[in-house]
Amino acid sequence: MKFQVKKLSSDAEETGTLVVFTTPSKKSVSVDGADQEILLTVEEAFTNKVFEAQPKESLFFRNSYVGGFKHLLAIGLGDTKKISNENLREAGAVTYQQLKAQKALTATVHLDSLLKQSKPATDGLQAFVEGLLLAAYDFDHFKSKKTTSLDSVTLGCGKLVTTAKAKSVLEVAEILAEATNLTRILGDSPGNKMTPTLLAKAAADAAKGTKLKVTALTKAQIEKEKMGGLLGVAQGSSEDPRFIIMEYKGAAASKKPLCLVGKGLTFDSGGIDLKPPANMHEMKYDMQGGAAVIGAMIAIAKLKLKVNVVAYVPSSENMSGASAMKPGDVLTARNGKTIEVLNTDAEGRLILMDALSYASDRKPGAIIDLATLTGAMVVALGNSHTGIYGNDDKLINKVKEGADRSGEKVWHMPLISDHHDDMKGTHADLSNLSSTRYAGSATAAAFLSNFVGEGIPWVHCDIAGTGWNTGNRQNYSPAKGASGVMVRTLVEVARKF
Ligand code: BES
Ligand code: MN
Ligand code: ZN
Repeated sequence: MKFQVKKLSSDAEETGTLVVFTTPSKKSVSVDGADQEILLTVEEAFTNKVFEAQPKESLFFRNSYVGGFKHLLAIGLGDTKKISNENLREAGAVTYQQLKAQKALTATVHLDSLLKQSKPATDGLQAFVEGLLLAAYDFDHFKSKKTTSLDSVTLGCGKLVTTAKAKSVLEVAEILAEATNLTRILGDSPGNKMTPTLLAKAAADAAKGTKLKVTALTKAQIEKEKMGGLLGVAQGSSEDPRFIIMEYKGAAASKKPLCLVGKGLTFDSGGIDLKPPANMHEMKYDMQGGAAVIGAMIAIAKLKLKVNVVAYVPSSENMSGASAMKPGDVLTARNGKTIEVLNTDAEGRLILMDALSYASDRKPGAIIDLATLTGAMVVALGNSHTGIYGNDDKLINKVKEGADRSGEKVWHMPLISDHHDDMKGTHADLSNLSSTRYAGSATAAAFLSNFVGEGIPWVHCDIAGTGWNTGNRQNYSPAKGASGVMVRTLVEVARKF
């Protein structure tokens, strides 16, 4: 999608579509900053109850020739008092979807009518552009026929933002949306096209032209690091594991980095404890935590944030080949702790434990990990909220605040000593399976905490429910496909770190 930023003028004699934003009032409708003829057109539809200016509602006026444009698209924002930046993000998605439905290839957005309700106007503009670009995501890499849709949008500035301001906001929004869409591409790519080796290559490719340093430890190097969990999980597959490292230096070397850790399980069959066939294909998404961390690093580097951040993505397949780990096997983690594998399908925690201990050696200011870790998380919070666990209220609040700014939803979950007790091993230090059936996402978090270095603030985000198929919750996410959740939140956290 190409964007242009221009001052809006009503005698432009444009041929395309003008998009205006509307709010309802008692007897009438408002289109802030718009010409009288535009208002009259929308008012007519409002009076006749064809259009109520409610959120996500829209009406297309074909060949209306008002405001200097051929067509007019009116989009509802709803009650002025209730409009949030998330509503403007949703309005961006409605804009894209309606223009696509009308087969429009170009459009001009009337910014004054959009931004009247947002404080500050720049935040609203950023959210709108994000929503538009996130909604435009279409994973058609493996389709022979590609559809063409809206390819050029003009941001028509009025009184509320200058063209210079709009241009700089546009750049930020584009970086965030493109990074999120990259995360989606990595997730939507199937297991045979996104192996650990290919994931490492994709991270390196995406980082080209940025200040990021990307390396990937090979199997031999992972053995040297004694990452018994990552090796144990990978041993049932013919694909070698990788341990991806992405480093960004935006502040003085003396400043402790923020470490991001993401589960990069490129396909989870369950291993010897094989998963049932129904929906097993969705386990290509089991690397969404890693993909989100990669996307966030790309955005952080492109935004040139003044912070040090290092990302670690342990990546492997979980298969049931002849040399696969067996239920009951004992693995030794990088930090020396032993784990009995009572269920080979609880593999995420096994690859993350080595990554958390590796990250801890870096003595970071904080560690945030992301993983599609447990089905129990989906049961607890569905696909609306990402569950977060942690050992430090300040960091937990930073993640909550970041999510508030990005419009993503997180929910702080309890983690107490009972959950730790449930993860004790019979013949090893720990078990990878809880001794109780319940609170499975909390006991998984308790397991992970054993590998976070003493005194390091840590937050674990279980994105099992939010990583994909969230289109019924957010209109800028695909109904089927990766959501790219937490990329924008991680960037917000890094910004304030
Ligand atoms: N990747 C899955 C978790 C998952 C399941 C994410 C469904 C999204 C949707 C993970 O590796 C797993 O299999 N977890 C097991 C753990 C159990 C064996 C303790 C689970 O949740 O069933
Ligand atoms: Mn599993
Ligand atoms: Zn898994």
